Amino acid sequence: MADLDSVKESKNYYLDIPARCQPFYLKGCGALDWGMQNRLSQIFRPESGRTVMLAVDHGYFQGPTSGLERVDVNIVPLAPYADALMLTRGILRSTIPSSYGRGIVMRASGGPSVLRELSNEQIAVDMEDGIRMNVAAMAVQLFIGGEGETQSIYNMTRLVDAGYRAGIPVMGVTAVGKDMARDARYFRLACRMIAELGANFVKTYYVEKDFETVTASCPVPIVMAGGKKLPELDALTMAYNAINQGAAGVDMGRNIFQSDAPEAMIKAVGKVVHELMPPKDAYELFLTLRNEKK
Ligand code: R5P
Repeated sequence: MADLDSVKESKNYYLDIPARCQPFYLKGCGALDWGMQNRLSQIFRPESGRTVMLAVDHGYFQGPTSGLERVDVNIVPLAPYADALMLTRGILRSTIPSSYGRGIVMRASGGPSVLRELSNEQIAVDMEDGIRMNVAAMAVQLFIGGEGETQSIYNMTRLVDAGYRAGIPVMGVTAVGKDMARDARYFRLACRMIAELGANFVKTYYVEKDFETVTASCPVPIVMAGGKKLPELDALTMAYNAINQGAAGVDMGRNIFQSDAPEAMIKAVGKVVHELMPPKDAYELFLTLRNEKK
């Protein structure tokens, strides 16, 4: 029991100051519970409302792809510069230090290897294990228009239901297959479906034409996927354009870890995403940091 000997009588209730009532800063996330909003704040920085996610989950279907042969050597040193890591539970438990204090976005769907039909995925992680690993969000792939469309939507809706029970947000990831379109019309359809069916945020690819219609018609935040390795200036320009056209961040993999200076690249991407640094300036910064490292 508290010591009652020196109880102060005077109290200040600040009657002239109205109670704070702040809206949550992420689009479409205002009605989420405290735990979900808190976890989203571990991914999207409250100061900018944006995120730099580093995607290193490629091994779940590709094995040790170039740049990810040794996650302990190549990726762990980059982790402090990312707002969140997107990865599998296998890499998290085996390789990422448990003292890592930033957001973890756990890939929760998988199944087929690169040798098979990729859309034939199932849920590959229990929400309960996500809770145990203290993740900030779970990620699931959606194959809209692909062979596994219905199964992949079922995977997501099951995960979203479990996510609401646990207070863990779900990121829906738009997949692009060999025969699938890659234009604003397709991504408007895919992103909107994914949001309507319950994802709390969506990862999708950038398209040169009308990307702002993809972000505008999606009621929850969109993060831009990186895609195949581009020259650094082009990747920084793509990130800048996506943010300018309404994306709430990026989830980039190969364009960071396959760069010849990954640390310089992730820092330059961070400047673009959080400070809207023009791409040419960010590229200059990349070159300076790369040269300093040599
Ligand atoms: C994307 O759909 C998967 O999660 C990938 O494994 C990964 O996130 C792709 O990253 P990037 O295309 O930037 O290398």
